[in-house]
Amino acid sequence: MSKCFYITTAIDYVNGQPHLGHAYEKVLADVVARSRRALGEGVFFLTGLDEHGQKVQQAAQVAGKSAQLYCDELAGIWQVFVTKLGLTNDDFVRTTSARHKEVVQAILTKLHREGHFYQASTEGFYSTKEETFVTAKERLPDGSFPASYGEVVQLAETNWYFKLGTHQQWLIDHIESNPAFIQPDYRRNEVLGFLKNNTLEDLCISRPAARLTWGIPVPFDPAYVTYVWFDALVNYISVPAALGDPTVLGALQLAIGNRQSAIAAWPADAHVIGKDIIKFHAVYWPIMLKAMGLPLPKQLLVHGWWQKDGAKMSKTTGNVVDPVAIIDDWGLDAFRYYVVRELDIGPDGNWTDAGFAARYQAELANGLGNLVNRSLSMLKRYRNGVVPARHDALSAEASQFAHAAIIALRESRLQDALVETWKLVTRANQYVDQTAPFKLAKDPAQAARLDEVLYNLVESCRILAVLLHPFIPGTSAKIFAQLNLAGAPDKLALAAWGGLQQHHAIGEPAALFPRRDQPKA
Ligand code: MSP
Repeated sequence: MSKCFYITTAIDYVNGQPHLGHAYEKVLADVVARSRRALGEGVFFLTGLDEHGQKVQQAAQVAGKSAQLYCDELAGIWQVFVTKLGLTNDDFVRTTSARHKEVVQAILTKLHREGHFYQASTEGFYSTKEETFVTAKERLPDGSFPASYGEVVQLAETNWYFKLGTHQQWLIDHIESNPAFIQPDYRRNEVLGFLKNNTLEDLCISRPAARLTWGIPVPFDPAYVTYVWFDALVNYISVPAALGDPTVLGALQLAIGNRQSAIAAWPADAHVIGKDIIKFHAVYWPIMLKAMGLPLPKQLLVHGWWQKDGAKMSKTTGNVVDPVAIIDDWGLDAFRYYVVRELDIGPDGNWTDAGFAARYQAELANGLGNLVNRSLSMLKRYRNGVVPARHDALSAEASQFAHAAIIALRESRLQDALVETWKLVTRANQYVDQTAPFKLAKDPAQAARLDEVLYNLVESCRILAVLLHPFIPGTSAKIFAQLNLAGAPDKLALAAWGGLQQHHAIGEPAALFPRRDQPKA
């Protein structure tokens, strides 16, 4: 059994509706997953929901429902959302599922047996919103705590702690000697700065069942439930374990999972996460794994946050982008294209409706859509839709752009891959303008020249379908269908020049991205 490329998203808190930030992260992961499949690799792509903890318990209370019912209802909405985004996830994890809980408890039992935990009392300030104790040094000059902590209350509690002290140095060494582990580099430097300038405090991994019932019971102490982050992070291995991953099962000495159809996924190749949860993934998660005897994930791919019109998105002010509404209005591929093209993985981004409409019009409708439509329409009109003999005028440039795009995809530089791909869109559109096939068509003496031009154009369209498949799969499939090509454009090896055969008859051209005169109000 060979190891597959394993990619995950963060699992979303179930106490709300999906928004642009969630959609963005999922689309990024899906593009990487599709790219890897298109490169010929086996892929396991996991996304899902984080259902335990105080926030969910409170939201369920407010809704007047049992926590489980509340989660089940919302899980339905989130699963529809995954379909709406066209994700190719191989599984969907819910942390309230039996298969997940079993693995969390097995890990707690093992680490407890091996002496990683101890019990201690803490008296201090507790943020309900962040579900964590806050130290006095985080107080603002006026004695209050930063608003991000929400309500902070004084609390005296006995809890279970995970010893982190001995782990700090090897983690620094690991991050320093594996530059790809945290990407982009400036996020890596932030983590290193944090680790070098602070002594790690032990991690509180329990919450008293007396005040929080909605969690996984700590197997060695029924008075507690598991801290929601210790539970949530484990999703990345609980699903592989349930599916028989030999690395995870071996380290945890677990005998679960169907060995017949087992997958070999761990270690993850990429955890796609937002910048706000980097500490959990770059500090606590590696330490948890090390304690379990499991190899670390190869990469944390850390994206930035979207704002809308320069301000934080917030339900209370109504300043939100609803991805479902955008998709219903403009189409899934327009949405997928925009978020990946507009925002590189790393910095923060700003959504404006005008910016979205502008890219749609310039790049999708006038750029790609126009190229494909006029290329195919001219072949239809002038050659009855029959592909002429191969000609290589654009071959070198197309190959160069395709090569650069594929290298970018291998390195998960998704925006770069689109930029490279669009060089072919632009070049081919320019080629139409330079060669003026509509003029050539009027002159019978130019018939051979027109054949050459048409071949270069339709072949460029075919290659674009292949390169765009990970990003805008629906459009890519439409281009292949309009070219009347059998099979799917889902292997990057198909991007080699010369795939279209002479005498092949194409199908019917149809607009890919209808022009829209009015940007959406
Ligand atoms: N449940 C935790 C993650 C546990 S992972 C083991 C969580 N959930 S969340 O719903 O709050 O966030 C899920 C993901 O969405 C995070 O990676 C977060 O960074 C991302 N985003 C939430 N809002 C965002 C934006 N406005 N913009 C981009 N991504 C954002 O954290």
